[in-house]
Amino acid sequence: MTAPLIDPFQRAISYLRVSVTDRCDFRCVYCMAENMQFLPKKELLTLEELDRMCSTFVRLGVKKLRITGGEPLVRRDIMTFFRSMSRHLDSGDLHELTLTTNGSQLHRFAEDLYAAGVRRVNVSLDTLDEDKFARVTRWGRLPQVLKGIDAALAAGLKVKINTVALKGFNEDELFALTEWCADRCMDLTFIEVMPMGDLGNEDRVGQYWSLKDLRGQLAERYTLSDIPKRTGGPARYAKIEETGQDIGFITPLTHNFCESCNRVRLTCTGELYMCLGQEDMADLRAPLRASEDDRVLEQAIRAAISLKPKGHDFDYSRQRADGQMTRHMSHTGG
Ligand code: GTP
Ligand code: 5AD
Ligand code: SF4
Repeated sequence: MTAPLIDPFQRAISYLRVSVTDRCDFRCVYCMAENMQFLPKKELLTLEELDRMCSTFVRLGVKKLRITGGEPLVRRDIMTFFRSMSRHLDSGDLHELTLTTNGSQLHRFAEDLYAAGVRRVNVSLDTLDEDKFARVTRWGRLPQVLKGIDAALAAGLKVKINTVALKGFNEDELFALTEWCADRCMDLTFIEVMPMGDLGNEDRVGQYWSLKDLRGQLAERYTLSDIPKRTGGPARYAKIEETGQDIGFITPLTHNFCESCNRVRLTCTGELYMCLGQEDMADLRAPLRASEDDRVLEQAIRAAISLKPKGHDFDYSRQRADGQMTRHMSHTGG
């Protein structure tokens, strides 16, 4: 039997996030610069290489695979990859195959995703206002995303909405977003804006809206009760008694959830980042390409996991002072 992946702090690694492309059809202001330079296509792992990589992780005990980007659904032939991965669901080795998407292409792929064994999708949506949506994504069209969400629900997928909490941008939509999701039986997770990517002209510190504050505003209108729900992700959840929906809170800057961290992230070029907030990474593309023998790759993965740090290191003051953490979310997969 293959020994599972255990890091130096006795955490079992069972969740792999895989960025299949750094490209995206949007340019969300907190994620990418408008003139973002994407990687040359030849740098990317091929779909066959991604398959081999993910299958090796599954053999080493990964139970949850989340496909991300950039926008995963803009990668050509991505459904071939999903369909191929579904064999691990059929065998019972993988428990969940899922994705995080901006929703723009969901109307085209929802049914195929369901057929490939996907049961849950996370869709990013920061506002229900068309003009604001176009502003935050730089040119995204809200109706197209709403069409995608409807298609996902109609296909039988469970949808969770991810909303980045942005001061002065979507504060006034807190209740509208909550109720819109409740009407569609969708859970909603709020995310504190993280210091990733280019700061550019966007003042990330000025945009910071603490989720403690946001939760306080929700609690003035609704009855919130903490629930121990675990999705294997970093969110903490509360139930709204009045609507019955679960609200998630991802607070990397105010709540350190590192001690129960179970995940690593693979970039579209085959680098394995051991932690979202640290620069430590291992190149898995070289061992993947060096040998057809999967044991070489397995060894490289084990060596990488033995370097997983105890926790993250987000710090606005440090970042602003010395320009650290300019890695893009779209490269590491969020
Ligand atoms: P669920 O399976 O629904 O719990 O998904 P998830 O929250 O793991 O995934 P999703 O892709 O929806 O991520 C939501 C947000 O959580 C994104 O902004 C991620 O960057 C952030 N996130 C995910 N994992 C980590 C982590 O290990 N550390 C930090 N700081 N943030 C994370
Ligand atoms: N801070 C917080 N969340 C971010 N996302 C992208 N960039 C950032 C950031 N700087 C979110 C997206 C998506 C998820 C995968 O990550 O909105 O919901
Ligand atoms: Fe694209 Fe998601 Fe980044 Fe927005 S947050 S630019 S949708 S990868």
